[in-house]
Amino acid sequence: MPTHALFPTLVHVAPLKSRTAASLNKRLLRECKQLALDDEAGQRWSASNYPGGFTSYSSASRMHQLSPTFAQLERALDRHVAKFVRELELDLTGRELTMTDCWVNIMPRQVVHSLHLHPLSTISGTYYVQTPKRSSGLKFEDPRLERFMASPPRLPDARAERRPWFVVPAQAGHVVLFESWLRHEVPPNPVDAERISISFNYNWF
Ligand SMILES: [Fe+2]
Repeated sequence: MPTHALFPTLVHVAPLKSRTAASLNKRLLRECKQLALDDEAGQRWSASNYPGGFTSYSSASRMHQLSPTFAQLERALDRHVAKFVRELELDLTGRELTMTDCWVNIMPRQVVHSLHLHPLSTISGTYYVQTPKRSSGLKFEDPRLERFMASPPRLPDARAERRPWFVVPAQAGHVVLFESWLRHEVPPNPVDAERISISFNYNWF
């Protein structure tokens, strides 16, 4: 009697693979840094909600509609999202999955992004612009965790997919996609350099 692996939780991790990926990343880096200097509403919001760091989550949250550079990133991400949708075997008949939000996150040393999910979205993800060596990865939580109750812990050397947490290392030029209901966090950045990423949501209309 075979053992089935049921109800898998899929996470897509891949290099962006645009023909112009290197130059695109360079331009994104420049624009992310410039936005952090210019976006005063974002600075104010970050001071109380993202201590020590900068996010344009509540101020410039549709960067793909404001900047041709981010629009180019959107086109490259669309291809990854389409592939992920096929992998998930989602039936999108009659409706379209499109990018709704796209914002910048800058995390200097010790900045943390606590456990959260992305409401009102279908697919979410992150593109990494700058990832200093040893900077924090993206930590996913087993969505069944609250039901485990008297379940024994996993062996210390259990396979990664058997553990209640899974960390995807942050790698510049790579994209990570997941279903928006999957909770995740970014642990404190332990290195004295800025970890810069662009997060985004796709919704189904
Ligand atoms: Fe997130």
